[in-house]
Amino acid sequence: MSILEVKHIEKIYEGKVTHKALDNINFTIDKGEFVGIMGPSGSGKTTLLNLIATIDKPTSGEIFINGKNPHILNRKDTALFRRHELGFVFQHFNLLDTLTVEENIVLPLTLDGESVREMDRKLKEVTKKLGIDHILKKRTFEISGGQMQRTAIARSIIHRPSLILADEPTGNLDSKAAKDVMETLTSINRDDGATALMVTHDAVSASYCHRVIFIKDGQLYNEIYRGDNRQAFFQKIIDMLALLGGDSRDLSTVRL
Ligand SMILES: Nc1ncnc2c1ncn2[C@@H]1O[C@H](COP(=O)(O)OP(=O)(O)OP(=O)(O)O)[C@@H](O)[C@H]1O
Ligand SMILES: [Mg+2]
Repeated sequence: MSILEVKHIEKIYEGKVTHKALDNINFTIDKGEFVGIMGPSGSGKTTLLNLIATIDKPTSGEIFINGKNPHILNRKDTALFRRHELGFVFQHFNLLDTLTVEENIVLPLTLDGESVREMDRKLKEVTKKLGIDHILKKRTFEISGGQMQRTAIARSIIHRPSLILADEPTGNLDSKAAKDVMETLTSINRDDGATALMVTHDAVSASYCHRVIFIKDGQLYNEIYRGDNRQAFFQKIIDMLALLGGDSRDLSTVRL
C-alpha cells in the first residue's frame, strides 16, 4: 500500500524572476519504507518536502498522503491533517526552549486535548525507546545536540503519524550523534513500521535508507536501492553524487 503518492508535481516560484523549482516529479512511497532524497544545493529538495508537508502548495500536480489530498482542505482541516498524519524533524530541531524535554514531546498531544494518563503512557514508551527518558525534566538548553534531535524525533512520532518527514535531521550533529539519530530512525522504521522520507546531504545518513531518490534541477534524476549491504550502498551513493555534481558539501562527510 502506498502512503505517499506524488503525481506530476510542478512548483514555480513567482517573483521578480520566476523560477521553476520542481518539474514533473512522480514517485510513490510504500508503507514501511524509509526513503532518502539527495541532490545538489538548490535542486528543489526542501521545496518538495514543504509541498508534501502541506506548508506550501504545488503549482500543478497532486499529492496523496494515505489516499487523501491535503491540498484541497481548508486551513483548519489542513492544520488537523498535518498534526494527525505527519511528523516533522528539522535540521534546527525547532524545540521550544521555554519548555522541558517532556513538554516539548507531548505538545502535539496537548493540542489535541488527550488525557494526561494517555499522554504519560505514550511519553514513557517513546522516550524509553529513544534513550532520553532520564532527561525529561531538563530544558532544551541543558541537553546535547544529539539529545535535542532525539527529543525532536520523539515529538514527531508520539502521535504515530502516517509519514515522518525529515529535512537534514543530522545536518547540525557531529558524526557520533548523527549515527545515533540514524540508528534511532532506523529502529522506529523497522520496529514500528513507520514510513519516513528524509532529505540529506550526508551519504552516510542516506545509506541507512532503503532507497535514495536523487533530484537535479527540479527533476528526478535517478533512484537506487540499498539491498542488504550498507557499505556497498554508501559507495553507490557517493558515485551518484559525483555524477550529479553540485557543491562540495555533498561529498564532504565520510564517516562509516
Ligand atoms: N520562496 C522562494 N521563492 C523563490 N524561489 C525559491 C523559494 N524557495 C526556494 N527557491 C528557489 O528554488 C530552488 C530550490 O530551492 P530548495 O530550497 O528547494 O533547494 P534545496 O534542494 O533544498 O537546496 P539546499 O540543499 O541548499 O537546502 C532554488 O533555486 C531556490 O533559490
Ligand atoms: Mg534545503
